[in-house]
Amino acid sequence: MLPEQQDILWTFITLLFTLFSIYVFVNVIQHCRSRTDVSAQKWGIVFGAFILVSLFETSTMFDLNQQQQLGFIRWQVLTVFVLLLVWGLFFKSAKIEDQSPPIVRAAFFYTTISILLAGYTNWLPQQRSDPPPKGGVVLGGDITMEDYTDLGRVIVFGAKQVAGQKAIGKGQCPLCHTFDPGDNIGRCPNLFGVEERSHTRVQEERYKTSPIAIGETDGPSGIVKGKPEDIPAEYKRQGSPDLVGEDYLRESLMCPSCYVVEGYGKEGDTISPMPLIHKPPISLSPVELNAVIGWLQSKDTPGEFGKVTVPLPSADDSPPAEEASGGGEEAPLFVTGTESIDDMINTLGCPLCHTIPGIEGAMGTLGPKLTEKVNAPLRLKDPNYKGTAKTGHEYTKESILNPNAYIVEGFPEGVMPQDFGSKLSVDALNKLVDFISNTEETGSEG
Ligand code: HEC
Ligand code: HEC
Repeated sequence: MLPEQQDILWTFITLLFTLFSIYVFVNVIQHCRSRTDVSAQKWGIVFGAFILVSLFETSTMFDLNQQQQLGFIRWQVLTVFVLLLVWGLFFKSAKIEDQSPPIVRAAFFYTTISILLAGYTNWLPQQRSDPPPKGGVVLGGDITMEDYTDLGRVIVFGAKQVAGQKAIGKGQCPLCHTFDPGDNIGRCPNLFGVEERSHTRVQEERYKTSPIAIGETDGPSGIVKGKPEDIPAEYKRQGSPDLVGEDYLRESLMCPSCYVVEGYGKEGDTISPMPLIHKPPISLSPVELNAVIGWLQSKDTPGEFGKVTVPLPSADDSPPAEEASGGGEEAPLFVTGTESIDDMINTLGCPLCHTIPGIEGAMGTLGPKLTEKVNAPLRLKDPNYKGTAKTGHEYTKESILNPNAYIVEGFPEGVMPQDFGSKLSVDALNKLVDFISNTEETGSEG
């Protein structure tokens, strides 16, 4: 589920709990009124207190991040449980004449809630698609910085967001990165606060020398570190040659190995596993790259664009046109199995993390090289293997659907996305597993 959807869902649940306690309160008061042997005041106070607790929980819920919410929901369930218990006790000695027993009404109430909730969550994916960015297509018109950074957001997360799936756009960033404070799954640096960091990074002693020094050329990208004036012309920034935050961000995207965030690189933090964002398979155009930088600079201060330094695109910039509008060439979120194996694998983003023999351009290094014809039997023989697979085919399937069942030695846990199951049809999964389980070194590839 998307963060925003989770927020909406939790908020919805807390509001329902509050409504529920109000309902019980009214019910109890009515009951007390119709009977002389129970004290409306006493029970009114007890149930009134529950309303307050529920209200408190609702408001607290708004301030928590998702991980905290998961823990917090227990308290709400507990509150409702106690409420039901007290309610049940309260009615125990009552003569129930023309009203149904409380437990029946509670059941009725919860059934209604569940149906509402089910309907609501079902409705969610269809309804929640963010509008395409307004100015994205008409460059050079009266596009504002808000429109432009929103184009960046769409490149990162995509225009369509579907419940139960991580939203991913053409830029593929969420495959590896997280963006909210506290959302640390340990894959790659959390990009919350990266605008601020962009200014301090270039001041670091480490930036000046590691893994290459300012002025040296990075092999894979051909980019000269720390020299904004030497960037390829179409990506070049106007203005002074001094290093600014924008240069750091641009360099992070175009030359990830120019500076490797401590602890996230390979070979002693000298090589970044991040792909070059302006080269295949992601291939962002200069206008798109700047939109992403603009979004990175403004995302932590919603509605405020004072920190954005990228220039607005002009009419004579090479048109990002449809593909950048978020409507056209957006990475689809789901593969059905009718696609070619290349298309499937590229859509899912496996090549960004894996080198895969037989798939052109699949040179990722964050995960192991996929030579499963040889690897899978080795994993199954490993005494540490605790999964349930018996064959290489089953092992491959398990690795895709439940990557944490076995962690390949030397690679981090939790890096491979856990949600591929929701992005594949049964056909697609079978086709993918057939292919991946037979991958082997082809000789031509190193
Ligand atoms: C295959 C995984 C992967 C993908 C996809 C990816 N990144 Fe990264 N990124 C990394 C890793 C690993 C690092 C840390 C190593 C380094 O500094 O290069 C990193 C570092 C960064 C940094 C530097 C962070 C800092 O704290 O200084 C930025 C900025 C960044 N990525 C932005 C992006 C954006 C924007 C996208 C999408 C267009 C993206 N990344 C896509 C893996 C990835
Ligand atoms: C964000 C990076 C990332 C992406 C995207 C990714 N993987 Fe992985 N994958 C990893 C890492 C890291 C490991 C090793 C750790 C582990 O075992 O979970 C791994 C392990 C595997 C393994 C087990 C390899 C072995 O030799 O035992 C298979 C199979 C695999 N991935 C297939 C895929 C397929 C297929 C896709 C695309 C649908 C994919 N992965 C996408 C990072 C990724």
